[in-house]
Amino acid sequence: NYPDKVCLVEVGPRDGLQNEATALTASQKSTLVDKLSACGLPVIETGSFVSPRWVPQMADSSAVFEKIKRRPGVRYTALTPNERGLDAAIDANVSEIAIFAAVTESFSRKNLNASIQETLQRFEPVLARAAARDLPVRGYLSCVLGCPYEGEVEPQVVSQLTRQLLDSGCHEVSLGDTIGTGTAGSMSRLLDTLLTDNIPVEQLAMHCHDTYGQALANIVIALQYGIATIDTSVAGLGGCPYAVGATGNVATEDVVYLLNGLGIEHGVDMPLLLEASRYISEQLQRDTQSRAAKALLTA
Ligand code: HMG
Ligand code: MG
Repeated sequence: NYPDKVCLVEVGPRDGLQNEATALTASQKSTLVDKLSACGLPVIETGSFVSPRWVPQMADSSAVFEKIKRRPGVRYTALTPNERGLDAAIDANVSEIAIFAAVTESFSRKNLNASIQETLQRFEPVLARAAARDLPVRGYLSCVLGCPYEGEVEPQVVSQLTRQLLDSGCHEVSLGDTIGTGTAGSMSRLLDTLLTDNIPVEQLAMHCHDTYGQALANIVIALQYGIATIDTSVAGLGGCPYAVGATGNVATEDVVYLLNGLGIEHGVDMPLLLEASRYISEQLQRDTQSRAAKALLTA
């Protein structure tokens, strides 16, 4: 029982580039975003208005938003950890913001320098101001299938925090397997718990990392449970600065190839996506992490 249509959320320009060692200019980043929007990707996470002390790679997000050529219908989104980030996001005319929390206290401390409940409190004014101006808010949860500091995570904890984010006004919650330790088994157990707790599946997105080579298997399970929003990153860019050893997000090209095989609609043009993939790999002077792109570009 797969969904007929999937919405791909391209996170490469943010989640990808925030963890790449090579620093790119705002022009290189905006060129990437424009190449991605040209492919037909409906949502592009374009930047992050966080502390430059914490994530220096995202310090020029305002300039990136200024340079992009906005395509009608494409949502250009950004992360906002606090009200200051929201102010910058509003100035940049973002289509949607994202707030982010972790499901373990240790990861919350490392990523946001606060406890889980403190971060959720910090988001309250952000959510209130976003609601007042009809700015949609996405919620992220990190480490839903394992934490680099605390190991296994109880599905019940993920379920409670998902509920809390939805109740606080997020239109969807992206479940992050930040360190990629999830398997088809643990993914099924997590989703069983969420659905038993009546979390609406249409408000869930899946955000897989391929560290252990499990991302596509986990995404197939998520699709079977009816999840129709999948986060992906062109060329498999990125990782996570607070999760040592985490390799990139699942590659957009690999997920597009998977969806093509399943006959699921996604609206993305593979040749144009390969062009974006090749562009960013050249700029970063490194090989693409996408197996499908490697195969298709050398075929
Ligand atoms: P803090 O150090 O506790 O707070 O950071 P602070 O208020 O003392 O701020 C520190 C400095 O940052 C100050 O500057 C502030 O002015 C400045 P200083 O006085 O030291 O020169 N500052 C800001 N600057 C620009 N924009 C802002 C902003 N806020 C403060 N919005 C804070 C707390 C939340 C700010 C910090 O911890 C932070 O920015 N964290 C963000 C970390 C981050 O972006 N992580 C990556 C995203 S999450 C992720 O990747 C996972 C996900 O992809 C899912 C998955 O992969 O699984 C979503
Ligand atoms: Mg990620």
